[in-house]
Amino acid sequence: MNEHVTLPAAPAAPAALGADDAAIRSNSRKVFIKTYGCQMNVYDSTRMGDALAGDGYVTTEDMGEADLILLNTCHIREKAADKVYSALGRLRDMKKARAAEGRELMIGVAGCVAQAEGEEILRRSPAVDVVIGPQTYHRLPQALKTARAGTRVVDTEYAVEDKFEHLPATSKAQIRSRGVTAFLTVQEGCDKFCTFCVVPYTRGSEVSRPVSQIIDEAKRLVDAGVREVTLLGQNVNAWAGEGPDGRNWSLGDLLYTLADIPGLARLRYTTSHPRDMDDKLIDAHRNLRSLMPYLHLPVQAGSDRILKAMNRRHTGAEYLRLIERIRAARPDIAMSGDFIVGFPGETDRDFEDTLKIVEEVNYASAFSFKYSTRPGTPGADLTDQVPEEVKTERLERLQTLLLKQQADFATSCVGKTIDLLLEKPGRMPGQVIGRSPWLQSVNVDAKTSQIGEIIRVRIIGTGPNSLFAEPAESLMGS
Ligand code: SAH
Ligand code: SF4
Ligand code: F3S
Repeated sequence: MNEHVTLPAAPAAPAALGADDAAIRSNSRKVFIKTYGCQMNVYDSTRMGDALAGDGYVTTEDMGEADLILLNTCHIREKAADKVYSALGRLRDMKKARAAEGRELMIGVAGCVAQAEGEEILRRSPAVDVVIGPQTYHRLPQALKTARAGTRVVDTEYAVEDKFEHLPATSKAQIRSRGVTAFLTVQEGCDKFCTFCVVPYTRGSEVSRPVSQIIDEAKRLVDAGVREVTLLGQNVNAWAGEGPDGRNWSLGDLLYTLADIPGLARLRYTTSHPRDMDDKLIDAHRNLRSLMPYLHLPVQAGSDRILKAMNRRHTGAEYLRLIERIRAARPDIAMSGDFIVGFPGETDRDFEDTLKIVEEVNYASAFSFKYSTRPGTPGADLTDQVPEEVKTERLERLQTLLLKQQADFATSCVGKTIDLLLEKPGRMPGQVIGRSPWLQSVNVDAKTSQIGEIIRVRIIGTGPNSLFAEPAESLMGS
């Protein structure tokens, strides 16, 4: 969830382009966007690319040829935030070398570190020209103009206007270049205030995008060849809006409507909070074939005492009952979760409760982290910090268990015939990588011209991070 992601570059200018078009590309300013953090940041990076495209920039994958380097940053744990400052140190040297050649290099910091640290970034990193927050990046072209005129900019005031109303739509060519799956942010921000978490401070309070905006964007994606859309939100299942019928809609209603878009074969959503899993959403899992049987539903810890201290506002037993209801609606659903070990005050017995809840749920995949103290959160004021070596030991035990569950889940898939969405060329010629309904990567012999198709395959084996399959047709008559 917190991997580095580098956005794919815009497609190279096709050979058929006229000399004028090629000239536009070579004369355009180029931006390199480095994305840290969660899927929301991946989506935001694409939309910052859109804002900059409207201003004549093309995206590049080659940092060396960039006129603008934009870091889209994450503040969730201390390590994530530290990475930004070490990257900025390296960029300062690059900017100096460029200046010596008489070439411009602008540096921008966007995302959650930008929101949390603002001016502090300019103070610590003289090479930075622009600091822009997650709610203000539609103003990026203006900020760059001001910076180019000689004034460094911090623009992190929560915008009163809806940034999505001000962003140019992603072009068809851009959507195509990004493949057959896409993210679509439907909800942002968080009002839950878990005591360990910076998100309510970096992303602001919960805001839902209106139904019509979401449907238009989904249709545009499908129109450009996207087959699978993942709806995003920090609390995606807290999404709420007014439906065209005048009723108050929840995420379940929205999913029913999106499922009716012709050509939209697969729907997913992430990340959900257990308190916002309402009946309509659980029903959607029972009734919608295109809603994939995979659910990321973090619990963080198993002990009720720690859940309370974290302000999760549910117990372990309530979480387990909820999963029972979800599994009753969709028996083949694969569960995923997030865990934190070493929250202040966590005893050995509390930690045993986390292992117990993991045993009971049996996760198909999961992410687990050592608690990291975040300035400004209530957790930072707690005195009973858990020693680092205890956190390390607990994380190892938890991860051993989670990895075993993940491997067992993968093994249980062998022999099954499934629908596979072909996504991208595989490592070996003649192979294509697809996604199973349960979000696993699957290698299969297929033609790259089939990318975007959903084919029937039989799972025949497991690898370290993926599965192997053969086309189901080849089994006919055998
Ligand atoms: N909105 C989602 C989570 C967003 S943050 C939810 O409520 O579940 C993604 C994950 O990072 C969290 O689920 C949590 O496991 C982890 N995380 C957040 N703050 C953290 C911290 N201070 N230390 C360690 N892990 C943290
Ligand atoms: Fe953070 Fe909790 Fe909000 Fe998730 S629900 S983003 S963990 S405060
Ligand atoms: Fe990180 Fe911000 Fe996402 S803190 S996890 S990039 S919401």
